[in-house]
Amino acid sequence: MVAANVVLVTLTLVAAGLVGGLENSSDDRWQLLILVLVILLTFCVNVWMLQRRFAPLEHLIDRIERIDPSERSTFELAGDPVAEIDRLAQSFRRLLQGVDDERRRSGKLVLRAQEEERRRVARDLHDEVNQSLTAILLRLEALAQDTPAERLEEVVELKRLATQAMDELLNLARQLRPTALDDHGLLPAIEAQVRGLEERSGIQARLEISGDPAFLDEEKQTVIYRVAQEALANAGRHAHARTVALALEVSGEAAELRIRDDGVGFDPVVSRGDGLGLDGMVERARLVGGELDLRSSPGAGTELTLRVP
Ligand SMILES: Nc1ncnc2c1ncn2[C@@H]1O[C@H](COP(=O)(O)OP(=O)(O)OP(=O)(O)O)[C@@H](O)[C@H]1O
Ligand SMILES: [Mg+2]
Repeated sequence: MVAANVVLVTLTLVAAGLVGGLENSSDDRWQLLILVLVILLTFCVNVWMLQRRFAPLEHLIDRIERIDPSERSTFELAGDPVAEIDRLAQSFRRLLQGVDDERRRSGKLVLRAQEEERRRVARDLHDEVNQSLTAILLRLEALAQDTPAERLEEVVELKRLATQAMDELLNLARQLRPTALDDHGLLPAIEAQVRGLEERSGIQARLEISGDPAFLDEEKQTVIYRVAQEALANAGRHAHARTVALALEVSGEAAELRIRDDGVGFDPVVSRGDGLGLDGMVERARLVGGELDLRSSPGAGTELTLRVP
């Protein structure tokens, strides 16, 4: 636009000069100087006007480029004085809001489908496979009655293996979908996890709960439960901690879950390994619009905070 304007003004001035030159051609150098000055002035005014006009657009582009698509959008409207740019910003904000709503909706669907599937697998394990193992155990018991003494040891060992498989299976079914969460609610389910950790690993666990999770919707409760489960499992497996403290604070529809251990700690940037636990927790938190904060360093224990709005 600047170039086109400058060319147009030049042509106009040259034409005017030619016309003027017919009457008075005595001082060509002055005419040339004025011509150059007018062209320069046209150029500068053009650049200044265009910059003023486009600066808010550049500013808007900057703000759009700074947005992290994986995070919840925080696009504030600045109320731009240029009407078109203000409209553009408003429609961009509406678009972001739409994307955000859709992400949250599909996230909830994913969570629900995943939990439903786990519930189904847990039920099948419990009802089908467990029944078959029970039948095997009963038959082994019957077999033990008529087995000659020299083979009895073998049958007893088989019984022990079948019982062990049953325990592992029930444990797995419980991990997949703890009935405590469905039957008794979030708090007893978390308490059961904490007691389980104490029994398994001998770590001393402290549990602090405030508020009533009754107003938290099912997805939020599931996310809180799953994050607590993974964090406690990590504390048991990796931390070599003496104590773990789990605090859940619920107020209305929001909640904060904090799990601290006094174990070996780790560098969250460097040594995350191939595990899926931490990434899974971050992902789950995001699906309900929450965030996960992980603080740990070698020798200083680990603290994990989940905030659900
Ligand atoms: N509380 C903790 N104390 C010390 N190290 C930890 C703790 N939590 C996690 N880590 C470290 O971070 C790594 C990644 O943890 P993450 O839960 O993602 O994977 P994982 O536990 O190894 O495997 P997965 O959870 O998939 O079964 C772990 O291997 C461990 O080195
Ligand atoms: Mg883990």
